[in-house]
Amino acid sequence: MLKQIFWRQHFSLCQCIKRTLVDSSLHCSTIGFSKSANLYEASRPHYLPQAIDFLLDHCNLHPLKSNVSKIHIVEVGAGTGIFTQCLSDFFVQHAKRMDGPLNVRITATEPIKEMYEKIIHKELSKKWITKNGSLMEINVIPQQGTALKLPKIEDESVDAIFCAQSFHWFATREVLQQFNQVLKRDGHLGLIWNQTDISIDFVNQIETLCEKYNTEGVVRSVMSDKWKDAFIGQEWFHLKASNEYKFEQTGELSKLVDRFMSISFIAKLEESMKKQVRNQIENILNNKWKNGNCKLPYNEQVFVYKKQ
Ligand SMILES: C[S@@+](CC[C@H](N)C(=O)[O-])C[C@H]1O[C@@H](n2cnc3c(N)ncnc32)[C@H](O)[C@@H]1O
Repeated sequence: MLKQIFWRQHFSLCQCIKRTLVDSSLHCSTIGFSKSANLYEASRPHYLPQAIDFLLDHCNLHPLKSNVSKIHIVEVGAGTGIFTQCLSDFFVQHAKRMDGPLNVRITATEPIKEMYEKIIHKELSKKWITKNGSLMEINVIPQQGTALKLPKIEDESVDAIFCAQSFHWFATREVLQQFNQVLKRDGHLGLIWNQTDISIDFVNQIETLCEKYNTEGVVRSVMSDKWKDAFIGQEWFHLKASNEYKFEQTGELSKLVDRFMSISFIAKLEESMKKQVRNQIENILNNKWKNGNCKLPYNEQVFVYKKQ
């Protein structure tokens, strides 16, 4: 038994080192995303239109409130494209009330192949006719890359960088420096998270349980604001606006269990261990929602930083 545990840990450490060598800026737990891309896509909640409204408004890129006709957005850690889809839909939903033409280019970057492959199979690029008959064009260009090694992007060419549920993975001074370099002079950095609401007892029980398996020290945004440390003592960005929205993800028990099973370090556990975790989460949800239809409360947090 002891031998088994040793080899399990040794194997996991080797995987970790291997991953680190492939790209030193990627945390070894991100390998979990390569195993959970399907689960992630099927079980994670979307982003609220009012949060996207707030984000675009404070980045001076709102289709109805700003008069820009050309926008370049870079999304970092785009995963399976859940946020990308919401962003693209937001522009389309406002096209009918817009006057002028608008060309939106969204470079959606993601390092993990299995997540990236989901984005390329989504139909995210769209064309629409605005109120006065001009063209709104949204071009989504998926690219593989990490926050530190972004695909080739010209300096001072980007209007906004958005990180949805991802900035905590690469919150360093070096990354902010890189973001500063590609953003235009009046560019913005927008960060958004769908955080499960751990002030609610049953949610706290589940997250505390999951945290026990966080053995490789993933800094989870739901547990701490440690990502904010990256902004201390830097001179490139200042906080311009922030907001928080509450919502509930509703669904059958199994879907909400899947939502937790898609957490990177849970997804990379071996099968027998995953089964145990699944059973424990099911028990907590069953105790709370006896009829099988569950509600999972969230706080959606948005932060807009302006380049200075
Ligand atoms: C929790 S997922 C969020 C995915 C997507 N943005 C969404 O809203 O559903 C975090 C994503 O960040 C990516 N990621 C992790 N480390 C990264 C890094 N160093 N650079 C860029 N992306 C990274 C992961 O591969 C993963 O797809």
